[in-house]
Amino acid sequence: MTEVRPAVLEDADQLARIHVDTWRATYTGLIPDTVIAGLSLNSSVQRWRDVLPTTPPRHCFVALDVTGDVIGFVRRGPSRDEGAAPTTGEVQSLYVHPEHWNTGAGRALLDTATTELRDDGFTDATLWVLTGNARARRFYERCGWHTDGRTQHDHRRGVVLDEVSYRRGL
Ligand SMILES: CC(C)(COP(=O)(O)OP(=O)(O)OC[C@H]1O[C@@H](n2cnc3c(N)ncnc32)[C@H](O)[C@@H]1OP(=O)(O)O)[C@@H](O)C(=O)NCCC(=O)NCCS
Repeated sequence: MTEVRPAVLEDADQLARIHVDTWRATYTGLIPDTVIAGLSLNSSVQRWRDVLPTTPPRHCFVALDVTGDVIGFVRRGPSRDEGAAPTTGEVQSLYVHPEHWNTGAGRALLDTATTELRDDGFTDATLWVLTGNARARRFYERCGWHTDGRTQHDHRRGVVLDEVSYRRGL
């Protein structure tokens, strides 16, 4: 069983490393090489140091390996989509370091996020995934999520990313 606990400020360095390494492993070939080349560990550490203190309690969780190292994270909260029902939550990001894929960490983090959303009174949840991210889409489908017919062009880091929405009841 993967241990999962709320993230703390001291996790910032590890979270940044996971973020950058996972982007490189997952998005090379899916998004422009210039974006991948521009990823910076230092900037990511700074972003996490800014974000963690302002994140509401129990909205960001980390997964640990048997030695206690942080190997993945999930962020959850109310849906950020325009016009979303107040009862719709969102899994805002889910990343497991590539060295720890297929060990159950992703499932443990996703289960934590959906349980926390349900405990807060949300009745369903959505998430956005890159249309070409076949591995993640397969993972979500095995975990009971389904596409809900929505797509978007997300403008991030100077590029346009095609994303598809997944949804599940809680
Ligand atoms: C998508 C992602 C979060 C999945 O995380 P993960 O830790 O690999 O997920 P799990 O290990 O829980 O499950 C993956 C597979 O491993 C299997 N698995 C789980 N525990 C296992 C174990 N102990 N031994 C072997 N296989 C195992 C699961 O059954 C699952 O297989 P399936 O998809 O055929 O059902 C991860 O690949 C990732 O971070 N990808 C890059 C970032 C990304 O795309 N995030 C989503 C963006 S929205």
